[in-house]
Amino acid sequence: MSHATTPVGTERKIVTELPGPKSQAMHERRKATVSHGLTQGFPVYIERAEGSILVDIDDNRLLDLGSGIAVTTVGHAVPAITDAVSRQVADFTHTCFMVTPYEEYIEVCEELAAITPGDHHKTSALFNSGAEAVENAVKIARLATGRDAIVVVDHAYHGRTNLTMALTAKNMPYKDRFGPFAPEVYRVPTSYPFRDGLSGPEAAQRAISAIESSVGAHNVAAILIEPIQGEGGFIVPADGFLPALSAWTKANGALFIADEIQSGFCRTGEWFAVDHEGVIPDIVTTAKGLAGGMPLAGVTGRAEIMNAVHEGGLGGTYGGNPVAAAASLATIKALRVGQMHLRAREIEQLMVPFLREVQASAPIVGDVRGRGAMIVIEFVVPGGKEPNAAATKAIIEYCTKRGVVVISCGTYGNCVRLLPALSISDEQLRDGLGVLAEAIRSI
Ligand SMILES: Cc1ncc(COP(=O)(O)O)c(C=O)c1O
Repeated sequence: MSHATTPVGTERKIVTELPGPKSQAMHERRKATVSHGLTQGFPVYIERAEGSILVDIDDNRLLDLGSGIAVTTVGHAVPAITDAVSRQVADFTHTCFMVTPYEEYIEVCEELAAITPGDHHKTSALFNSGAEAVENAVKIARLATGRDAIVVVDHAYHGRTNLTMALTAKNMPYKDRFGPFAPEVYRVPTSYPFRDGLSGPEAAQRAISAIESSVGAHNVAAILIEPIQGEGGFIVPADGFLPALSAWTKANGALFIADEIQSGFCRTGEWFAVDHEGVIPDIVTTAKGLAGGMPLAGVTGRAEIMNAVHEGGLGGTYGGNPVAAAASLATIKALRVGQMHLRAREIEQLMVPFLREVQASAPIVGDVRGRGAMIVIEFVVPGGKEPNAAATKAIIEYCTKRGVVVISCGTYGNCVRLLPALSISDEQLRDGLGVLAEAIRSI
């Protein structure tokens, strides 16, 4: 907790080695009392943040290119959001929507109906986390279709609860020895242009053949897919892959569930990543960017599907908490009024050519891809496509030690993902990219 009054400013400024002495001491306290099962990350402890700058307890100013994994899309401590939260805290913090409801919950559902793809009648239910939203989307899809099978793809990430572990592809660290896992989950190949070289329709046909032969079309309740695969490595499927899968679900009485938890809320240059391909999902799951840092998640879908659930079948004590809902309404307004999807496109225009230029002289850069402010660099062993996790680790360490916060991802641990706030300035972005380029060249 901080009561510091010095301005945060807009520049990265490192005044101790990182992690600094206070952070190192804090880390010792942590080790004694916080489960070692949580990712340790870079042990720099934060006490304040503003815009794209994080201030640690040693008074270092770090540039945040991760946004807490695509959450603070509008930026840290944005007055419109913090004011909305403060007002709501002063009004009331909790009643439980299932016991004595309130307007903020309804307003978030109205916004979700307006901004998710398609102009059909939609209803929503709100939850606390992305995994909880995905679990509920699966519950709803099974009930609405009367079928059991859920189809997911290679490299998928949908969460860490028991059902979502089954839906998630990668064993370490998410699933190892945590089973047994939930049944009736079937995994098929995805579209990964850098690694499979297939066109969208070819990759879709490969997935569909696998579904038809190993699951049976009539058993499929839903295909659940991230339109840009997040933890798996910001894998942008080849054009036509998502529309073909969506068309297949329609033709076979199954549902298409888009998991937009990481890719939603203007991050990719549209409200949602499926918007780039004109796909209209039956159900959309949201979280992360939905509420500017407050825990909130949503399941939004065709009214006839969502409303098929019996009364009391959906819910939870905190889902759609009024403070999180107030944050969400302010966040969505800021995104809309600021037309921040356009800023995401500008960020892509700045980042991608810069990184492609770095790639031209750095054989460890296998691929630069992504959309909007959701860009990744995939590192390989020079001369081929063998994943280079060691280089990735070294690059992340180089950046974080200089106060540029970037996060890894990828099934093979060989990607550096860039998820800046959409309010980041060009100067800040150039500063962060400069350090990243140095890091790549240092390998
Ligand atoms: C696409 C996707 N789905 C689901 C989740 C799980 O969300 P949470 O961590 O809020 O449970 C994540 C989190 O990274 C995600 O990226």
